Order: sequence, then structure tokens, then C-alpha cells
Amino acid sequence: MPLKPKTKPETKCVTAGIGQDQAYGAVTPPLYLSSTYTFPGFGEMGKYDYGRGGNPNRDALADAISELEGGAGGVVTSSGMAAIDLVLNLVPHGGLVLAPHDCYGGTFRLLLSRQEQGRFRVEFINQTKDTAPAEIRAKNPDLVFIETPSNPLMRLSDIAALSAAAHDVSALAVCDNTFLSPARQTPLALGADIIVHSTTKFINGHSDVVGGAVVAACADMAEKLAWWANCTGVTGAPFDSFLTLRGLRTLHARMDVQENNAIEIVQYLRGKKSVKSVHYPDGILAQKQQSGSGAMLSFELGAKSEDLKNFFADTGIFQFAESLGGTESLICHPASMTHRAMSQEDRDSAGVSDTLVRMSVGMEHKDDQLRALTTMFSNLQTAE
Ligand SMILES: Cc1ncc(COP(=O)(O)O)c(C=O)c1O
Repeated sequence: MPLKPKTKPETKCVTAGIGQDQAYGAVTPPLYLSSTYTFPGFGEMGKYDYGRGGNPNRDALADAISELEGGAGGVVTSSGMAAIDLVLNLVPHGGLVLAPHDCYGGTFRLLLSRQEQGRFRVEFINQTKDTAPAEIRAKNPDLVFIETPSNPLMRLSDIAALSAAAHDVSALAVCDNTFLSPARQTPLALGADIIVHSTTKFINGHSDVVGGAVVAACADMAEKLAWWANCTGVTGAPFDSFLTLRGLRTLHARMDVQENNAIEIVQYLRGKKSVKSVHYPDGILAQKQQSGSGAMLSFELGAKSEDLKNFFADTGIFQFAESLGGTESLICHPASMTHRAMSQEDRDSAGVSDTLVRMSVGMEHKDDQLRALTTMFSNLQTAE
């Protein structure tokens, strides 16, 4: 029998939940705001009973993200941090979590705070080193948290090697796939057990929803996570899910344009004398585990830190703001913004310097983006 051709991810995004309305034949999925559902009869349960545990809009989004990631099931949460905290319920009391020393500041703060509470222990290691798999085996953790590319330095860790090392010591391999999204990286196919997302970023793509998602490789794990999500109440709201599914439909088209713009900007920055280094995830490991390099980049200004105020004085179409993954370009200063929750010492050890600038490249025309950047550089007092 000839094999059925596989539906492409772009098609999955566009068709998710479409044409399934039983009530009126609505093409796009209707929004179900009801917090509660009638029981069909005494002792009988319908598909839904209460909105914390299940909702059609949330399920449609969870199914779509899970399919894109190649998972067995997913849970939609109220934020990316809620998604990460949900997964941490799987760590036994007093267990050990290994996380990257340069992970997102909010993840760093959550892990440290849970450790301070006595919930589990955490150790931050440099997962980009060749010795990281051996370190994982030696430390014998319960959960290995991977974030690649890392925020804000775009360092890459080998998902397959780290996941294999985690499995050697019966630990879970969890990967934060926020920066590339399933349009550019699918960590479950590389051996990770669980994916977390801040859907606030590329998946929604329009900077108008805060949300998160967890996808598990196996059905048992997905069920366990759904149980914890209902138990702790971290599930996402119906309207947020509705908007996020709408955003997801254009994920690949957005990523294509934003990535092309990012490549132009990387070339521009690499030619600037006042830029010491440019961080963009496009090396050998990227070719092995990614299908593209995405739209996030950061760079080290050669300027003195006193000059930063001048650089950020007129950012033009680049909004001077935290977050990432929207259609609009954003520029930020990690040390005083996204990573301010880390101490100076921790930032130093992670390599997040005071002159590091991070950009989320949007869909504006590249000429306008480059013009805005040229203005920023011209405002620097330090000579080019
Ligand atoms: C890599 C990464 N993971 C998780 C989060 C947390 O997501 P949220 O802000 O949706 O809680 C962020 C937020 O910036 C992030 O950059």
C-alpha cells in the first residue's frame, strides 16, 4: 500500500481546529468562554465538565502545538513560567535539577526559589561544553533542563547528547523551545522527553497574549502533566488560547520573513567596528539540530557602558522592550531588563555583560530596520 503523504507543518497550523464546528458549521473554531458545562444526565459525563480541567479552545491549541512538536499530548498554561513550573512537579522531593548557567533569568529565579523552599536542589552547569554529558552522568540528576539557543547569548547545546546522558541516569530531558519554535527545531525528535514553550513569543507572535505550553513525548507523561495542571490550576484562559491558535496559523510565514531580516542584520552588525561580537545560532551544531537560525540575535557593543544610554536614546521602529517573537522588532538591554533578576556575579559567570544588546527581529522591511540601527550607532559617542 502506498504511504499516505505526511501533512506539512504549515498546513497543520492553518487547518488546526478549522471546519469542525458541529453547532453552526463555523469555519474558524468558536470561542467557548463558559467556565462550566452541563452533565448529559445523572452519573453521565460529557467531554468537558469544568474549565480549569478542560476547554475546547485550549485543547485545540494544545493539540496543534503537540502535533507540530511531534508529541503525544500537550497542556496549555497561563504563561511560559507556569509551563516550566508545571514540569517541575515531576521532580521528586529533594531531587536534583540540572539547568544551564545562562538560562532565561525567570527560569533561573524560579529554580533558585524552589531550591530555597527546600522543594529540590538545583545546579547550574555550562551545557554547551563537550564535557556536559559526562557531567550529567556524574551528577545523577532527576531532571535536565535544556534551553537552546540560550537567552540572551544564543549559545547552542547538543539536545541529542544531553538527552542521551539524562536517560543514562534515568533523568527526564526537558527542553525550552521558545526561541526557535517548532518551525525551526523539534527537540522531541532529538530525544528530549518534554518541551516547554513561552507561547507569548513566536507561537502567538503578536505580543498580545502571555501564555505557555508543555508537550510530552509519551501519552502517560502528557496525562500526568494534565493532571498536575488541573490540580494546581495553571491552565491557560480560553480567549488567550483562541488568540494564540490564530497567531500560530502564520508561524512559518512569520518565521521565514523574520529570519531573513535577522540574517541581513547579522551581516550588518558583523561589519561594524563598534560591535565586538555578534551572537546568532548558525554554527555546525545549528545545522545538525535546527532547520534554520530564527530571528533572535544579540551583540556586544564595543562602547563604554556609559554610552549605552545614547545608543538606546532613539531606537526608532525597534521598540525598547523586553520579550520577543512578535511581528514588531524589539531591542533590549538584558543586564538591566530581562536578566536583572540575576545577581551581577551570576550574570558575569553566564557572560551577560553590561554592554550586551538583544534583538528580536520583526517583519518590518529590512531597509527600515537597517536605517533605525544606523541611527542608533550614529548616536554612540564612542567612535566607530
Ligand atoms: C526562553 C524563555 N523561556 C520562558 C520564558 C517565560 O515565559 P513567560 O514570560 O511567558 O512566562 C521566557 C520569557 O521571556 C523565555 O525567554
